Amino acid sequence: MNNKVVWITGASTGIGKEIANAFSKAGYVVAVTARRKSRLVNIVSEIKFAGREAVAFVCNVASERSVHSTAKRIIEKYGKIDCLINNAGVTSFKSFLDTKVYDYDYVMDINLRGSFLCMKTVLKGMIKNRKGHIINILSVAANTVYDNSSIYSASKAGMLAMSNSVRNEVRKYNIKVTNILPGAVETAMWDAKTRQKYKNRMMAPEDIAHIVLQAFEQPKRVLVEDIIIRPVKGDI
Ligand SMILES: NC(=O)c1ccc[n+]([C@@H]2O[C@H](COP(=O)([O-])OP(=O)(O)OC[C@H]3O[C@@H](n4cnc5c(N)ncnc54)[C@H](OP(=O)(O)O)[C@@H]3O)[C@@H](O)[C@H]2O)c1
Repeated sequence: MNNKVVWITGASTGIGKEIANAFSKAGYVVAVTARRKSRLVNIVSEIKFAGREAVAFVCNVASERSVHSTAKRIIEKYGKIDCLINNAGVTSFKSFLDTKVYDYDYVMDINLRGSFLCMKTVLKGMIKNRKGHIINILSVAANTVYDNSSIYSASKAGMLAMSNSVRNEVRKYNIKVTNILPGAVETAMWDAKTRQKYKNRMMAPEDIAHIVLQAFEQPKRVLVEDIIIRPVKGDI
């Protein structure tokens, strides 16, 4: 397999789906994963209809077993994973006082622990190959204060710190770790009322996908470490 193999988590909708489309159009083999199988199957059908290669696997990033078996299946099929895009994520727009322990566990398990599991799973192979790229989709909430966002921000700030540490540890193996910090993007992450109200202020998922692809396509000697992307008129 000559083409680079790119694993995108949370690829059933929104930013992940557009990243999958952008990477596929650019000629890469994409492995799209998420929990909703029917959506993944549609994405792969469209890619294959266009004559390109893709595969879909159901993967819940909150489950260690699911993450391990997904990585194994991608490697069984294509022999390698060149790039992991840690995109799967959820939010909980609640005040800190209204946030329940359940909300904390749910957001942390998917955003922070899920990224931890996925990075751990691909890194062994990347170190063996002495190359690889991990792209973490964070948020401006990792370094900006917003109301009703404490747990989401904590999960993304945790990812930022973890990702920066991992980058330091693995750059000696020629492995790149990139952080993408988007502001508001019009996806299902926002409720219908907010999307309707701010749709002209928000970025499109394709905008983020285009920038992620550019970060991936830099020369071997170049590592894009962090990118902050905001709507031109600022935060909503
Ligand atoms: N939209 C924004 O304004 C914005 C801004 C900054 C950063 N982000 C980040 O961008 C990423 C993508 O979000 P989005 O805006 O595209 O929202 P979205 O359309 O709701 O997409 C979220 C994706 O994550 C997947 N997912 C959720 N829980 C999962 C789990 N346990 N295991 C595997 N996949 C899971 C969902 O698929 P299934 O439900 O099928 O599993 C879906 O594909 C997130 O990390 C988010 O924090 C979004």
